[in-house]
Amino acid sequence: MLVENQVALQPHNSFGIAARAKRLARIRHVSDLHALMASEEWASACAEAPPFVLGGGSNLVITGDVKTLVLKVEIAGRRLVAETDKAWVVEGGAGENWHDFVTWSLDQGWPGLENLALIPGSVGASPVQNIGAYGVELQDRFHSLDAVDLLTGQLFTLDAAQCGFGYRDSVFKHVPSDARSFGLAGRALITAVRFLLPKPWKPVLGYADLDRKMVETGIGEPSARQIYDWVVAIRRAKLPDPAVIGNAGSFFKNPTVSPEQCADIIARDPKVVHYPMADGSIKLAAGWLIDACGWKGKSVGNAAVYEKQALVLVNRGGREQPCTGGEVMTLAKAIQTSVYERFGILLEPEPVVI
Ligand code: EPU
Repeated sequence: MLVENQVALQPHNSFGIAARAKRLARIRHVSDLHALMASEEWASACAEAPPFVLGGGSNLVITGDVKTLVLKVEIAGRRLVAETDKAWVVEGGAGENWHDFVTWSLDQGWPGLENLALIPGSVGASPVQNIGAYGVELQDRFHSLDAVDLLTGQLFTLDAAQCGFGYRDSVFKHVPSDARSFGLAGRALITAVRFLLPKPWKPVLGYADLDRKMVETGIGEPSARQIYDWVVAIRRAKLPDPAVIGNAGSFFKNPTVSPEQCADIIARDPKVVHYPMADGSIKLAAGWLIDACGWKGKSVGNAAVYEKQALVLVNRGGREQPCTGGEVMTLAKAIQTSVYERFGILLEPEPVVI
């Protein structure tokens, strides 16, 4: 396995931002990583800063050339690990494409991931931000994962509790010095993820867009395949395909507020989209807040707010004249300021910024 120098990162981030990695190593097997960690190159590359683990690059804003060693995870593999009368346990190599994995598991007759169809990215990145859509979060289907400790080279396995999942959050997003003492950001490279798909399969419905599909089609008891097809159609209709228009999915998390704060906003903006949460807090639709501030279609350089979903920032310059990470972040900051000034809410960006 070779460390490549001056590697173009544009094909490896879904925004299509042009930047270079000073050094990049492709990890296809755990043994590649162990060999790399034993090399002199590793010692010199990691002397100043820990390496950067790159999955599908679909939740990433690159703001300049990357000087730290980039580990591009390309570990393949899909298999049924176990089957009981209560569940199937399926495993994906961290480098597998997420949507292909969802499609494969459904094709094999192991449903349960269909609400998460068409989310861009890799299997290995899916637990990092606890991907979620249409009423299902990754943590609802998670079994365990394997990872390599980038300091010691040791392989370890984590269960759901150890991953510290939250809304678009996990232990992999927290640096070790965080108040959460078990932060693993920059410390772990995920090699494989296992999913627990309960039997008998039960549909997860109740999300407004899926309810609409049920009414439109008159199908009251959809199969997993039907839900998969609906989710794919809904996403295609409202979210830009990164292969055509560069983007990193939702750019901000949906914020939660207290019932009092929500009542205050409703008094001024009765149409604010809000959902009561189990813990008594209220989740607001960040897309609605941004839309209400008039941001749809606005741009900074070649970074723009998507016309059909204000929560998504897009690259309007394509491959030829791509937006820069700086333009994306300037636009994001301007959005944060205007939403804060109108609603008193500071939106938190979702993607990783390097
Ligand atoms: N809305 C507007 N204007 C907009 C955008 C949204 O008024 O420009 C309103 C919608 O009409 C709707 C509400 O806001 O009433 C929520 O919109 P939507 O159903 O599209 O979902 P979302 O909250 O914006 C979240 C996830 C998505 C996920 C969808 C479906 C986050 C940050 N985003 O979006 O996840 O696909 O729900 O479950 O939680 C991602 O993380 O990258 C992502 C795409």
